[in-house]
Amino acid sequence: MNRRNFLQFIGVTGLSLTLTEQLKVYGMGSPRNLPTLAPSLEDKFQTIEGINSEILISWGDKINSTERFGFNNDFLALHPLDKDRALLWVNHEYVHPIFIKGDERTKENIDAERKEVGGSIIEIQKRDGSWKFNKDSALNRRLDSFTPIPFAWKAKIMNSDTAIGTLAGCAGGYTPWGTFLSAEENYDMFWGDRDRKGNKTTKAWLQWDKFYPLPPEHYGWIVEITPKTGAAKKLVSLGRCAHECATVTKAKNQKIVAYTGDDAVNEHLYKFISDSENSLESGKLYVANLEKKVWMSLDINDQPILKKNFKDQTEIQIHVREAAKMLGATPLDRPEDIEIDPLTGNVFIALTNNKLKNNYHGSILKIIPENNDHGSLKFNFETFLTGGKENRFACPDNLLFDPLGNLWFTTDMPGSDIGKNHYEGLGNNSLFVFIRSGTYQGQILRLANAPRDAEITGPCFSPDFKTLFVSIQHPGEETTDVTRPTSTWPNGKIPKPSVVCMNGPLLDKIISGKL
Ligand code: FEO
Ligand code: CA
Ligand code: CA
Repeated sequence: MNRRNFLQFIGVTGLSLTLTEQLKVYGMGSPRNLPTLAPSLEDKFQTIEGINSEILISWGDKINSTERFGFNNDFLALHPLDKDRALLWVNHEYVHPIFIKGDERTKENIDAERKEVGGSIIEIQKRDGSWKFNKDSALNRRLDSFTPIPFAWKAKIMNSDTAIGTLAGCAGGYTPWGTFLSAEENYDMFWGDRDRKGNKTTKAWLQWDKFYPLPPEHYGWIVEITPKTGAAKKLVSLGRCAHECATVTKAKNQKIVAYTGDDAVNEHLYKFISDSENSLESGKLYVANLEKKVWMSLDINDQPILKKNFKDQTEIQIHVREAAKMLGATPLDRPEDIEIDPLTGNVFIALTNNKLKNNYHGSILKIIPENNDHGSLKFNFETFLTGGKENRFACPDNLLFDPLGNLWFTTDMPGSDIGKNHYEGLGNNSLFVFIRSGTYQGQILRLANAPRDAEITGPCFSPDFKTLFVSIQHPGEETTDVTRPTSTWPNGKIPKPSVVCMNGPLLDKIISGKL
């Protein structure tokens, strides 16, 4: 359903949601305050009155005769099959070894961990108004760290056409042609990393490289997955870094544009402009320079400095951070999720934090493309929201717009500091919504609190916007003794990352602009 259909569907076609009018929305300060959920440090998934929640699927649940739902679910994307059926893509980002087989770095333990990451495709069905996992669907399947995935590129990557497995999938995207995108983020925790001269730069925290010396250069890509078949490919065209997401839109000439952030301190924001209207395999990659307000080409033929320092375009794609720095790309405060405002076309980017700059609370950046055209190489920008005690949230991470332009966002405060130091009084990580128009225009409402140490990730609406799906990722992350976990959510035993469905009259009111 596109925005126009949605407005007809909810009966608010009379609302004047013009660009000019919506720009006024950013004026803050309604005299009436909304009742909101209080911050909490409890080990519970709490929702505001008027919104209910139910678990859809949890870590370890069987999805077919041989496979189980993986660990640490993150990004969610829905591929509708018909009115009441859909395929849900779920990223399984990483593992906490003591909850799998144990901390010891044995081959047996690592083999078990390799089955827990990657992604799940599961069929969900709407029954009696609520979405359920269909465990009998022939379309349920896993991709994991053993799944061979080809590179979509004109040359081999480290002498190979194929990577073994996908992992570190954080956020992602969904294309107009109906495929999922999964962004491989912190691949170095599994394999370590090295620079283009082959010098080791990062040690693998999980030490998978001890038994499987796979090239780190085979990870850190955007992976495109076909929902019904699970066929996947790694899109070398979008470069290799700690990709948080890949948010797809169109330029005025209908060419596909994808935005992606590199979630590390002082890393960069990228934009890819495809040669095509229905593929991401070839085109040009750009990186943002905020001082000059321009997108800079990373094409070897456009930049003499890259031609001098890199062997070829393939080497630039693999070491895109090094190329971006040579061009003078702007260092950012951990660029995470990116969403396009459905009312203005502006690009919103969560900047989570930057401890090196004593920025502990983060912000949301707004990029305004020249002439409202994602194909333009010029832009303006401004800070949209700043985290901190005054706004009662910190460390924005995942973003989601609804068709009325309300901005739903989740936070990722560091587990070890939750409730203390810079985060005192802010409670556990939470889900918020910035109200775009109406009586409560400009107010930020806290809708849900995560259990202890967890993060709410992957927010995603059902096609009828009646249900919001979220991931509860890494509950009990601070656990060091498996017999004394810091969280026992949801079953009172060891913590289980799970996907949760949220719905209810308050969600309906927000989504229909009738709050
Ligand atoms: Fe996986 Fe940047 O969060
Ligand atoms: Ca994230
Ligand atoms: Ca998002």
